[in-house]
Amino acid sequence: MRLDKRVALVTGGARGIGFAISKALAREGARIVVADVNVDGAKAAAAALENADRDHLGLRVDVADQRSVGELMDEVVRRCGGMDILINNAGIGGNTPFLDIKLEDWQRMISINLTGAFIVAQSVSRQMVKQGRGGKIINIASLSGQRGGNGRGAYGAAKAGLELLTKVMAVELAQHRINVNNIAPGAIETEMAKTAHDPATRRAYEYLIPMGRYGTPEEIADAAVFLSSDESRYVHGHTLNVDGGFREAGLMFGPDKTPPR
Ligand SMILES: NC(=O)c1ccc[n+]([C@@H]2O[C@H](COP(=O)([O-])OP(=O)(O)OC[C@H]3O[C@@H](n4cnc5c(N)ncnc54)[C@H](O)[C@@H]3O)[C@@H](O)[C@H]2O)c1
Repeated sequence: MRLDKRVALVTGGARGIGFAISKALAREGARIVVADVNVDGAKAAAAALENADRDHLGLRVDVADQRSVGELMDEVVRRCGGMDILINNAGIGGNTPFLDIKLEDWQRMISINLTGAFIVAQSVSRQMVKQGRGGKIINIASLSGQRGGNGRGAYGAAKAGLELLTKVMAVELAQHRINVNNIAPGAIETEMAKTAHDPATRRAYEYLIPMGRYGTPEEIADAAVFLSSDESRYVHGHTLNVDGGFREAGLMFGPDKTPPR
């Protein structure tokens, strides 16, 4: 129960990585607000969490809409009295070659994955400053914001922006005892990966990841528990890659020097 008496807001928590993080934080005693554009999914996710006596909530939000985020914040403050942890996770996937990206698709990607993350982080930070008891913010960026992968023009640019925003937030919010970090997942087996990763993408990932497999949402959730807990209190402005070694890998071949799998 490392997160007893904390209120955690998880955006995009109806499924995938956000749902796995919601489950892990609830198991550690936090009261969870699952906020998602899919309100039925958010309610179902909240109802499925452990420690139901914490009165977890499932609420609607569109992170790209400042008014929707404002309404969410008002409701969380009214019903939970404030918040201690933000998992800034909501996002959409994308896999379009640079030459084919349409302006409206680029703008949609940036508006949800970067501007949406900014709107939520700023609203929560203002609330945490007002509360005066510090807090924890974990932005969910991506390995695709660190490496120049095929088809990741819009998605990667948004995630690279979020990683940089994390550093600025860490510098400016330290004085308010708001601890800000970033998780960069590699290839994680979720619905998003099922739609955004074609067979060629899958084969390339399995070769490029030293551990030779996709990660699970639970492996991201374990990192999120650490960054939400007091154990990470001096980890600040950091990007924690949870990617099976992808970012750090160089030349790779098997013991018999066979070509890539
Ligand atoms: N799956 C991966 O391989 C992977 C890798 C790196 C980073 N990520 C990041 O992790 C996060 C979660 O990804 P996932 O794989 O669980 O995706 P997912 O598609 O399974 O879940 C995303 C959730 O976000 C919600 N959402 C989408 N747009 C929203 C909006 N405008 N407002 C509120 N909620 C919205 C969806 O309804 C959904 O419940 C995303 O930010 C994604 O970019 C995923």
